[in-house]
Amino acid sequence: MVIPSVLSMILLNSRAAGQRGSVIRMFLCSWGQVLKDVFRNPTTMGVGYRWFGRPLLRFQDSEKAHGRSLSLLGLASSNPLTRLALRVLYKPRVSLPVELFGHRYIHPFGLAAGMDKNAKALRGWEATGLSFVEIGGVTMLEQGGNPKPRMFRAPHAQALVNRMGFNNDGSEKIQLTLERHVKRHGRLGIPVWVNLGKSKITPLDEAHLDYGATLERLWSYGDVFVINVSSPNTPNLRELQDDEGLIRILRHCHEVNDEQALTLKRERKPLLVKVAPDMTEEQLVHIAKTAKNNGADGIVVSNTTVERPGDPHPRDASVFGQHGGMSGQPLKERSTSMIRTVRQAVGKDWPIIGVGGIANAQDAWEKIEAGATLIQAYSGFVFEGPSLTKQVVHGLSKRLRASQHASITDVVGTKSD
Ligand SMILES: Cc1cc2nc3c(=O)[nH]c(=O)nc-3n(C[C@H](O)[C@H](O)[C@H](O)COP(=O)(O)O)c2cc1C
Repeated sequence: MVIPSVLSMILLNSRAAGQRGSVIRMFLCSWGQVLKDVFRNPTTMGVGYRWFGRPLLRFQDSEKAHGRSLSLLGLASSNPLTRLALRVLYKPRVSLPVELFGHRYIHPFGLAAGMDKNAKALRGWEATGLSFVEIGGVTMLEQGGNPKPRMFRAPHAQALVNRMGFNNDGSEKIQLTLERHVKRHGRLGIPVWVNLGKSKITPLDEAHLDYGATLERLWSYGDVFVINVSSPNTPNLRELQDDEGLIRILRHCHEVNDEQALTLKRERKPLLVKVAPDMTEEQLVHIAKTAKNNGADGIVVSNTTVERPGDPHPRDASVFGQHGGMSGQPLKERSTSMIRTVRQAVGKDWPIIGVGGIANAQDAWEKIEAGATLIQAYSGFVFEGPSLTKQVVHGLSKRLRASQHASITDVVGTKSD
């Protein structure tokens, strides 16, 4: 974006026509080369974002930058031409099919919860080539979240710290948003997952009703529902990972799920549980087994952590001093090792969704080898831009071709011991 505008200014200001002709030739040649490189090599797609987008972002408040990017994506996806441009620029040109939860995913890489809480840019995410998108966290009641500022970038570590506190439009408004979307544009071409959170004012012993109400309102529009009992930014929410809370929520959500399926004469929807990284291996195995034994269809590993890196770069120190959940690169190893632990404990027939610190194809491959059938990212998009999808999927495809495996699903759990 910056290069074209600077070059157009040069073009408009060059006085002599001859000079203008040679500048035009230079302009076309240089852009021709850039586009050629970009289409040949997906990793160069991110260069523009890294060189120009990221430095520009640094001057903006993290949450405002996030809001502007989301609005821009929403706007771009509302027009067929710009949607086509998004597809041409960012959509992976390889397919790595995964069959899961009754759907065919074009590849294993989707958008993690929190990025598009209110489902504002659904067609944009689809156009950029993601294989599924998780909206939310949605809470039963609309809420503003914690006071700002509440989202911080640690650029050196490629990490984020946030204490958003489930700011979202609430289940009623989001139901209307999705209803309007389906009426105007039909259903999205990729599965839509819904992340279910708990409203702040709802007491813990009524949490199941809160999750159930959101599930009921959004049931028709979501393909998969994720019960989020692991955000560190809603007081005491993580206590719901304990047996009593988790079992009660699962039971109630199963009832709602069955009722909706019966009433609307459709298949019941998969219900997953998303867990926190801040626990011992024994606790993790216990929660995973409890979720599985109580009918959860899979697990999302993991949410953000309250831990911080031991020896942060001075530029990141103040960010790591902020209260909230950390995501991005420093979470990567922890979440990958949790995936391995869950896979060992519950076996290969219970799907694991891997999320935490994915910034390139290698990170994604490691999570799949550890046992993740599908993977997701949030922070990677903040630091790498929308080209991350192509980078990851093309990289996975290359790794797959170099391996002895026939399909990406054959790679799942090959290094889980
Ligand atoms: C600003 C922000 C908001 C988030 N909101 C949610 C949320 O509402 N629900 C949820 O389950 N996870 C939420 N997450 C966690 C992400 O979905 C993901 O689990 C976590 O960031 C680790 O992935 P990453 O390293 O790719 O960012 C949020 C993360 C960030 C950075």
